[in-house]
Amino acid sequence: DGLARSLGVCNVTLPQLAGLTDAARVRPALVQVECHPYRPRDALVSWCHRHGVRVVAHSPLSAPGLLDEPVVHAVADEHGVSPATAVLAWHCTRGVVPIPSTTTREHVVANLAAPRHSLTDDQRDRMAGLADPAFQR
Ligand SMILES: NC(=O)c1ccc[n+]([C@@H]2O[C@H](COP(=O)([O-])OP(=O)(O)OC[C@H]3O[C@@H](n4cnc5c(N)ncnc54)[C@H](OP(=O)(O)O)[C@@H]3O)[C@@H](O)[C@H]2O)c1
Repeated sequence: DGLARSLGVCNVTLPQLAGLTDAARVRPALVQVECHPYRPRDALVSWCHRHGVRVVAHSPLSAPGLLDEPVVHAVADEHGVSPATAVLAWHCTRGVVPIPSTTTREHVVANLAAPRHSLTDDQRDRMAGLADPAFQR
């Protein structure tokens, strides 16, 4: 009916997204999925970036154990930031928009500042070692 100019979809698989894109007159502008170093969604992110679709990462920090990972602490130490900032910077460096939630004032400020930090290729490679195809919440 011409009431929507852009579409956002959430919690889709890559086949579902590709099917929707084929069928829809208006391509999705963004896709929101659970995404973090345990579940980087590489294929979906690459596809979206090739097709001009923005990826939004929900639940970027709350995967159990993520902020305790030694590699996350190491990367954080190299930047002089917290593990949470290192994870958020990992998203931003790969062109994904993380949407952390927080009830802590200091975390709001730190989370907004996280995109100032870019991970090096080496740091991204080390973070990639956290990917776990069996990850389930
Ligand atoms: N589309 C969907 O199906 C879906 C599903 C789940 C979530 N979401 C959305 O995703 C967003 C985030 O989800 P979420 O709250 O489940 O997970 P999250 O943002 O990954 O994790 C929130 C937790 O991280 C902590 N945290 C935030 N910033 C921190 C920091 N700088 N340092 C240390 N800890 C920090 C928070 O504690 P403090 O409060 O103490 O900072 C809170 O315990 C929300 O907007 C939610 O609506 C969407």
